[in-house]
Amino acid sequence: MSKEYTFIEVSNQASIGIIKLNRPNVLNAINRPMVTEIVKATEAFDRDDSVKVIILAGNGRAFAAGADIDEMAEAGAIEMELLNQFTEWDRLAWVKKPIIGAVQGFALGGGFELALCCDVLFAAHDTEFGFPEVGLGVMPGAGGTQRLTKLMGKSKAMEWLLTGDRMSAQEALHHGVINRIIAKELLLEETLKFAHKIAQQPSLSLRLIKESVYKAVDYSIYEGMQYERKNFYLLFASHDQKEGMRAFREKRKPNFKGE
Ligand code: HXC
Repeated sequence: MSKEYTFIEVSNQASIGIIKLNRPNVLNAINRPMVTEIVKATEAFDRDDSVKVIILAGNGRAFAAGADIDEMAEAGAIEMELLNQFTEWDRLAWVKKPIIGAVQGFALGGGFELALCCDVLFAAHDTEFGFPEVGLGVMPGAGGTQRLTKLMGKSKAMEWLLTGDRMSAQEALHHGVINRIIAKELLLEETLKFAHKIAQQPSLSLRLIKESVYKAVDYSIYEGMQYERKNFYLLFASHDQKEGMRAFREKRKPNFKGE
């Protein structure tokens, strides 16, 4: 029987779907088949009603030390254009369920960009983020210049992107790039605990909150608020809204169904 995934490991823990990058010999360098697998596994969890939250994790010395340099070193511009590889990465932005990143060791280049595709980021003390592309004669191509700038503002993002310097977990926390720093040996456990906590919430609310927060990133405040309002109204069509509010009034725990 052929194994479904070669470059990642996929598992479930109750309502949490876990994807671990798995090319430890090359510090989880991200080749194109690995991206295809990450997207496939993430979308499969997104469609699976039993999964509420997705975790994306590294292993050993790295979350990921970047896109696979061996794969692209000799590529030409037209070949890259025709490959159009980033449309696969873009699909991660369409995933409706929350994605929590558990990051450790190196999170460089494409590895940092992959981390920035997550909705919430937990990092071990030893994590080193950075965009070393400038030193390779290139630049980020999977959203790095855009997402980092939206997170920390133009001036700060310029500094990290132009120097290629490594950012410690502490600096990343300070700049609002990550949510929490966690001891490495507890990283997955604490991430799972957080994932289980939000998995208790009604899934339609999680879905529409996530969608609305990204509108705040991309839209003007007025357009974003119109969007938020429509999602708020939409939730009044759900069982879970009626149940949540009735349970409050009846002083009991709600029984959410995800519909
Ligand atoms: C291919 C990589 C790799 C990468 C590490 N390796 N990073 N292979 N692509 N991005 C391989 C090494 O060649 C080596 O293989 C093995 O992993 C272990 O790495 P070492 O260098 O021996 O480890 P160490 O000395 O501890 O240094 C770790 C490191 C260094 C500082 C992270 O490996 C490094 O600088 N890596 C490249 C980081 C980088 O430039 N990333 C950006 C890539 S461009 P062997 O076979 O020798 O044991 C990019 C563009 C994104 O990401 C565009 C959009 C996707």
